Amino acid sequence: MNVSAKFVNIEDLRRAARRAMPKVMFDFVDGGANGEWTQRRNQSEFERILFDPRVLVDVSRRDQSTTVFGQKVDTPIIIAPTGLTSIAWPNAELLAARAARRAGAGLALSTYASNSIEEIAGTGVTPRWFQLYVSTNRRWTHELIDRAQASGYQALAITVDTQVPSMRERNVRNGYRARRRLTLGTAIDFASRVGWLYRFLKGPRPAYGNMESIRASTAGQFVALGDRVSRDLDPSLSWQDIADFRTRWQGPLLLKGVVSTRDVARALDLGVDGFIVSNHGGRQLDYAPSSIEVLPEIVDACGGRAEVFLDSGVRRGSDVVKAIALGARAVLIGRAYVYGVGAGGEAGVDHVFRILRDEIDKCLALIGVPCLSQLGREHLRLPTCGP
Ligand code: FNR
Repeated sequence: MNVSAKFVNIEDLRRAARRAMPKVMFDFVDGGANGEWTQRRNQSEFERILFDPRVLVDVSRRDQSTTVFGQKVDTPIIIAPTGLTSIAWPNAELLAARAARRAGAGLALSTYASNSIEEIAGTGVTPRWFQLYVSTNRRWTHELIDRAQASGYQALAITVDTQVPSMRERNVRNGYRARRRLTLGTAIDFASRVGWLYRFLKGPRPAYGNMESIRASTAGQFVALGDRVSRDLDPSLSWQDIADFRTRWQGPLLLKGVVSTRDVARALDLGVDGFIVSNHGGRQLDYAPSSIEVLPEIVDACGGRAEVFLDSGVRRGSDVVKAIALGARAVLIGRAYVYGVGAGGEAGVDHVFRILRDEIDKCLALIGVPCLSQLGREHLRLPTCGP
């Protein structure tokens, strides 16, 4: 697939994914919680941050590599955990892992990924993290942790912002979660996405790679897959559990979904090694702050005792540069990579990395910072106070 000329930026890939995927699937990926205020703010707050560029710096040699818990990455990007991504393209996580490996980037695998812990380990992608949704079935949760450890995953990221499934209004309108029959409109929508339908029928059908196989062979069965997740999530998850997981997991432990400094000290005391500052891409609590606006406070609260990462709203290489300048070690990309998969499978994810790496490279040159490691807050003009 020759995607380079046609798709110049991530927004182009988003539009291509919207054309390629049935509406109900695209909206599941693209949408957020309630009125999607936080989702919009994730991007608008990036736009309020300007650069303070330096000129007459020799930028003929540039380097965007860094380290993540001591492991080298060629670019400060990690694929975010996304569940059931095969609704965009069969084996989506596997294709993304291969693309990440080629790009010298990392991948965090979702508990509810379509590919299994072991399949992704087989690609050799590193850094390779496992994202844990804590289940009411603790035996299964413990098995997942042990499997990730045995398969050489280097870090465990526990998602802590999904106490209950949120209200995703687009999903409700599209009947994604309602137990209703396929309407004529939905049937036409599916039938008109010929490439998607062909891949869906050829299989493998969407499934959760890490649990006993439930495969969605009809549109209605997607609902069953969604319901399974809602039943599994444990709303009683608390700090005591984090202490238990700390004992069980040998290696860096991260909390994903922290946006308040008030949670930082307690986590550090329990031996947490890192935070993913995230509001789940605006998919959980609407009116949570954007990740980029709270990032500096969280970095300061950590005082060098933990590595800090950011996700939510990253669509441009300049967003990555801003997050690193504010103290993130790397960023995670969710929708940006899923748009790539939906638009063109593995070649689409390769293209996502090509676009972001190139944008980071040019941005570093134009602000007069040849190496990522030299970036600091002094390279930004921050908004003084926000609406
Ligand atoms: C997600 N996200 C997510 N997070 C998580 O911890 N476990 C998961 O299984 C999922 N699943 C998931 C599916 C889809 C389709 C999306 C778009 C997102 C959240 C994800 O890890 C990340 O926090 C956000 O995607 C970051 O925001 P952006 O990059 O999408 O703006």
